[in-house]
Amino acid sequence: MNQQKPTKKPPHFYRGRFSVAPMLDWTTRHCRYFHRQFSQYALLYTEMVTTGAIIHAKYDHLDFDLAENPVALQLGGSDPEQLQHCAKLAAKRGYQEINLNVGCPSDRVQNGMFGACLMAKADLVAQCVQQMQEEVDIPVTVKTRIGIDELDSYAFLCDFVQKVTLAGCQELIVHARKAWLSGLSPKENREIPPLDYERVYQLKRDFPQLLISINGGIKTIEEMQQHLRYVDGVMVGREAYQNPSLLGYIDQALFDPQSPIVRPREAVQKMFPYIEQQLAQGVHLNHITRHMLGAFQHCKGARQWRRHLSENAHKTGVGIEVLEQALAFLEE
Ligand SMILES: Cc1cc2nc3c(=O)[nH]c(=O)nc-3n(C[C@H](O)[C@H](O)[C@H](O)COP(=O)(O)O)c2cc1C
Repeated sequence: MNQQKPTKKPPHFYRGRFSVAPMLDWTTRHCRYFHRQFSQYALLYTEMVTTGAIIHAKYDHLDFDLAENPVALQLGGSDPEQLQHCAKLAAKRGYQEINLNVGCPSDRVQNGMFGACLMAKADLVAQCVQQMQEEVDIPVTVKTRIGIDELDSYAFLCDFVQKVTLAGCQELIVHARKAWLSGLSPKENREIPPLDYERVYQLKRDFPQLLISINGGIKTIEEMQQHLRYVDGVMVGREAYQNPSLLGYIDQALFDPQSPIVRPREAVQKMFPYIEQQLAQGVHLNHITRHMLGAFQHCKGARQWRRHLSENAHKTGVGIEVLEQALAFLEE
């Protein structure tokens, strides 16, 4: 029997110790609600939302359920006034962090003059951070790469970080590979430039006051624990989305040894009340279940689980019985 007394606050508690990365079209509010069922501590990022989308909104891009918290809103933009305005709106709505995207290399984002191309405009990023941080009490953070194009020296990265830090940024998330702004697609830019974790560790040594999370290619709890010897937090993207059962181990392994491990069946069942509520508001079942397809990756029956959801969840009028039927295929 485990004799340890439950701790009030988990040891090593830092909100960003583990986070799920912002991913367009993937980390939607339904996805985050699902991920939250696995972990109470993981920090969850929204997809990138542009300042333009928020300001000229056709619908409410900031809408989310407070039960998803802690959630960080990722903003895409480079106009300090607009970012300040959006940060203020987001803080009022209950988001717990504002993050500026300085890592996305897509053409669309470059044309809007934001994302990774902003690494070459450190003074502007600093101004954006400063104006947002002046307006809100929650942390304003930056997600960046280790370099862009030919601007990939360690000195260049340090200069960028120095300026952003002086502007009031206390937390940085670093995708440990550079981005090529032309010639590679966003997907290739997540795979081809080599990972350089050592550069991120070095950054932490040179900016000890700055909270630094490392991102890129991290897949297992063991890898996370290894990184946490050198930096303050780990951010996981694709593996968390494609294999969300990983999230069921996070609280115990990285935050509080007293936390239970959450199995995917339990996480799916905990979604039922939320799903009922969303269906009643006109949301289609497959908008929620599409984020659950990878939940049973290592179980017998995973293929039937995926197939049953893919073939049935889009039909009109269907409800949680589709999930119950799909769960019946699984042997855990
Ligand atoms: C489908 C997809 C969409 C993404 N969208 C965003 C985004 O909106 N903002 C952002 O900063 N990064 C975005 N990323 C990059 C991830 O946040 C992360 O930096 C990258 O996937 C590397 O982490 P990983 O190896 O753990 O997946 C996206 C990645 C994927 C796979």
